[in-house]
Amino acid sequence: MFPLVPGLRMQALCYATASLGAAALYGCSGSSDGAPVTASPDAGAVSTALTGVNLPSGARLDEAFATATADEISAFDKGDQLFDNVFFPADGLGPVYVDVGCGQCHQNGLRGAGLDRRMIAVMADGFTTAADQSLFPYGFEERPLMTAGATIPVLPPDAGALPSGETVKVTIRNPPPIIGRGYMEAVEDSEIQRVEAEQAARTDGIHGHINWVAYASQTVANPAYGTLTPGQMVIGRFGLKARVPTLDDFASDALQNDMGITSPMRPVEIANPNGLLDDEKPGIDTTLDHINTLATYMRLTAIPTRALPAGNGAQLFEQAQCSVCHAPTLHTRSDYPIAELADIDAPIYTDMLVHDFGTVQADGMADGTATSTEFRTAPLIGLRFQFTFLNDGSAHSVQDAIAAHAGEAAGAAQAFANLSASDQATLLTWVEAL
Ligand code: HEC
Ligand code: HEC
Repeated sequence: MFPLVPGLRMQALCYATASLGAAALYGCSGSSDGAPVTASPDAGAVSTALTGVNLPSGARLDEAFATATADEISAFDKGDQLFDNVFFPADGLGPVYVDVGCGQCHQNGLRGAGLDRRMIAVMADGFTTAADQSLFPYGFEERPLMTAGATIPVLPPDAGALPSGETVKVTIRNPPPIIGRGYMEAVEDSEIQRVEAEQAARTDGIHGHINWVAYASQTVANPAYGTLTPGQMVIGRFGLKARVPTLDDFASDALQNDMGITSPMRPVEIANPNGLLDDEKPGIDTTLDHINTLATYMRLTAIPTRALPAGNGAQLFEQAQCSVCHAPTLHTRSDYPIAELADIDAPIYTDMLVHDFGTVQADGMADGTATSTEFRTAPLIGLRFQFTFLNDGSAHSVQDAIAAHAGEAAGAAQAFANLSASDQATLLTWVEAL
């Protein structure tokens, strides 16, 4: 949730000034303990202009699910505030960074307005990852903003040094919503493996696979959710290419990579052209408790209530093979620590697998075992609140998103195109209500 308008104005001013690295001049004081800077209560309603999403007046999107206990709601509210927190140089922001808070890129727990840009060298075909990536000593994420003494941002390099035909490909990574992600974290490993095996036996070319990734954090924020050790191979679930296994790991990844906020999970500052090893806050910037609070908020967010239209939308969804990848439900672990999410059929409309989605959407970027052309089946959750779709936000309607399905999903796009106009309309209305 976003704060009320007075707080919002202050936050916007502080955001703008923090981006210029001059927050202190304008009286935007940072918090040294990770406490929210803006303490205003949640607004009930936020206008579309502010959020960049289709938010009906009065709607709250990032709500805890209906059966949450009083304790869970209070943990949710605490995390919600921290999610909308804005970091300042005194909090350990930077030295180079992309944005100043989770809520900047996931307003209301949804998509936008901030975003990431990735850059990588590709071959002449425009999508095959080139062998030599030495132009990117500071990684593949653009980090345009600076503070704490940095004077050189991380921006796409000049492609001049590349062999003939190779180019630097710059792509937008559109932030996915974070609502309902607890349901996705709770899904049993064996369930994802079952779906992978079932798809491997198909003869129509749909064969998604698990993105096995090496655990990239030093520890976990809350051992109740399981312990993981650095380098351990785990099933990736989160991110557009399913490159991150858990929500606390994602929070620590975003803090480090998007904001330059180090934590016991990710203790090292991002490499930067000035060679700075620390920022204005000496040492590790935030705590495991902070990360656990953020993860708890995300785990408790509801899937917005779906009012699915009457008619045969669900059958058409199956008939056009959408449901093969956008699996309507996956079963969750019985030992997941949030009782409401344990041992249920989670209605997430994804198989959690990565699929070849064709060369047009390809970003040149390998993430774990997901290649340039592969993306995780997008969970269809809260679609009616979005107006940009796909990894780069290039589709502006559900219909355009379907038409862009290629690679393994080409058959589904064709099946949709082959439906009668009235069946297409029925299917679209149904999907848009998810
Ligand atoms: C600069 C913009 C930006 C900021 C700031 C940001 N995110 Fe994100 N977020 C993204 C993008 C882009 C992705 C997709 C990343 C990918 O695929 O690698 C993403 C993905 C996620 C996901 C995965 C959702 C899914 O469907 O798998 C989670 C969870 C998440 N972010 C949480 C956070 C948290 C928590 C914070 C604050 C600590 C945060 N983000 C800050 C841009 C941002
Ligand atoms: C082979 C697997 C597969 C099939 C079949 C498939 N999809 Fe997808 N779908 C994906 C993947 C992968 C993405 C994410 C692509 C990206 O991030 O660019 C996606 C994305 C989407 C999106 C965009 C969601 C968002 O948040 O951006 C919509 C809407 C969608 N699919 C609907 C459908 C419908 C409707 C059908 C049936 C006509 C269908 N899909 C069939 C794999 C599939």
